[in-house]
Amino acid sequence: MKRDTLNTMSAKIILGIESSCDETSAAVVSIDGDTLRVLACRTASQDELHEEYRGVVPEIASRAHLDRIIPVIRGACADASVTLTKVDGIAAGNRPGLIGSLLVGTSTAKALAWSLGVPFVGVDHVMAHLVAGLLDQPPLEWPAIGLVASGGHTSLFRMTSALDAELIGATVDDAAGEAFDKGAAILDLGYPGGAKLDAIADTGDDAAIALPVTRLKGGDFSFSGVKTALALAAKDARFSGQTANLAASFRRVIIAQIIGQLVNAIEEHGVPSCLIGGGVAANSLLRREAAAICARHSVALRMAELRWCTDNAAMIGGAGALRIAAGQCDPWDLTAHPLSQVARGQRGPRGRS
Ligand code: KG4
Ligand code: ZN
Repeated sequence: MKRDTLNTMSAKIILGIESSCDETSAAVVSIDGDTLRVLACRTASQDELHEEYRGVVPEIASRAHLDRIIPVIRGACADASVTLTKVDGIAAGNRPGLIGSLLVGTSTAKALAWSLGVPFVGVDHVMAHLVAGLLDQPPLEWPAIGLVASGGHTSLFRMTSALDAELIGATVDDAAGEAFDKGAAILDLGYPGGAKLDAIADTGDDAAIALPVTRLKGGDFSFSGVKTALALAAKDARFSGQTANLAASFRRVIIAQIIGQLVNAIEEHGVPSCLIGGGVAANSLLRREAAAICARHSVALRMAELRWCTDNAAMIGGAGALRIAAGQCDPWDLTAHPLSQVARGQRGPRGRS
């Protein structure tokens, strides 16, 4: 959608910047009332730089962000046919993540906002993963259960608005995406592995190998047990040559745990809506199962579109737009922070946020 088709009386144009880990991304987002629209988003991935290390190398990541940040901002503005002088505010993901990486996006956003004389807001990346489900979607009825399943976080929230999330459960060890990546490494599927494991699981029999489904009390999650079970099964001669079956069984038990906790939260809190985001929200089985349980419970589901599941600036722009439209603004001395303010989480050995 081009800017000239917006209701320019009330709509605001926000530039979002994301650099928390290994994606450099910029997006132009509009907000009109509580409707968020993505006008453009450019993302430069660094996968090829980190592949040989099978994980994100922080120093390489922050240097690559420095090279890419201005070109992605220019590209997003050009795609949206918006010049920087038309921007009403600038948002950057300032937490959680790798500190050197976060500083590149946060400093760039502050410098641009200061020179343009527009508000700057820092955005919590975990909140932004939730807002991803609201991009280009009709408004949502609150309260909602929110689920973020990413490479660094697996957290459940009770949300009374897109700006207010109360943590009701989180992983006690690995995040779901981290478990998928480690599972993919065990099965030698390459890096980054979550999407590859998902694809090969589609060709396997998920009942072929009995892996345990972990069920914790409350809303918490644990994925380290099933990862160990997969490592043992992968060494078991009975399952040699059964990579697709191992992947399918592993995916089934991880998703069963997530869906189990999601159903418990929906039933316990009796909410009308559910919001799901984060890289693991791209998982095909999670998407199918979440749609099925929300339909069964008559809950409206807003699941981030596939392109807004993994890290991107559209979700940062959306979360920032909501804050700026609510009259919020952060001081110039706001800086980057490695941890989320809303989620208890690990960054994991890959350094993902
Ligand atoms: O949200 P994200 O881009 O970065 C973090 O904030 O962590 O999530 C990346 C994670 C990785 O662990 C990746 O393997 C996982 O999301 N992922 C998937 C799929 N696509 C990405 N996991 C399972 N199935 C997928 N299709
Ligand atoms: Zn993320």
